[in-house]
Amino acid sequence: MTDPEFLEELVETASLAAYRAGELIREQYTQPRQVKQKNGPRDLVTQTDKAAQDVILDIIQEKYPDHFILAEENPDSHPDEDGNWTIPDGPVWMVDPIDGTTNYVFTLPMFCVSIGFALDGKPAAGVIYDPLRDELWAGAVGLGASFNGKELPPLEARPLENSILCVDWGHNPVLRQEMFDTVDSLIHHFQTFRSLGSAALGLAYVANQRVQFYGAYALAPYDLAAGAALIRAVGGNLMNPGGQPWQLGQSKILAGHPATLDAAMGLINGVS
Ligand code: IPD
Ligand code: CA
Ligand code: CA
Repeated sequence: MTDPEFLEELVETASLAAYRAGELIREQYTQPRQVKQKNGPRDLVTQTDKAAQDVILDIIQEKYPDHFILAEENPDSHPDEDGNWTIPDGPVWMVDPIDGTTNYVFTLPMFCVSIGFALDGKPAAGVIYDPLRDELWAGAVGLGASFNGKELPPLEARPLENSILCVDWGHNPVLRQEMFDTVDSLIHHFQTFRSLGSAALGLAYVANQRVQFYGAYALAPYDLAAGAALIRAVGGNLMNPGGQPWQLGQSKILAGHPATLDAAMGLINGVS
């Protein structure tokens, strides 16, 4: 098992980086922004994404100069043609300076900083920070997680009819349709349905039980690593739509309490 002191120190560093980046994001939220397209009109970036990433990378690199960093706004970060990513062995940071850039551009106040840490390809620790609400999730697998400094309890099993279903939409029409089909098979079994526009926030909301199920089919490791570590830290489960355990690098994820996931998987695959 990884040394708990090492993980605690790492979560502290990630929290500091998330707070500093969050400060900058908050300050620039009401300022005019330069918006550019990355891979088409649905994939946006602003000067704030880049500036916030620089703040985070400076802090991580100063403390851990030997660690590898996979960061969204680095031009050399790419998946393979199926949307899956190869994660190097050893210590790897996964940084999404603003998860929910489209919301940020439209001044829709749902976005966050997401900083995950993986060891040998497995999510080990994560910090997610919502700068507008000053809400911070932090934790490590095996050590538990906290919300604004208060320890989070293990996830509770709830019947689907008392649970909130939450999903996000990728940019690709085929994957959007796939998610529509998933929502179609689940929506009438859940209490209600939400889509936030920030995958990391959706996963953080699972960790502190604001929503009970999260799904998305077009995500990168920097969207997912932090939330995945937080969910595992509170006893949640992560699967891919094929029903196997989700692995870092896979772009499709379903997350929740193990019993919620089992029930939902049965409905998605038409066996319940
Ligand atoms: C996006 C958000 C969104 C998801 C998109 C992601 P970004 O990340 O997580 O919820 O639906 O697929 O690209 O671009 O805002 O960092
Ligand atoms: Ca993202
Ligand atoms: Ca982003």
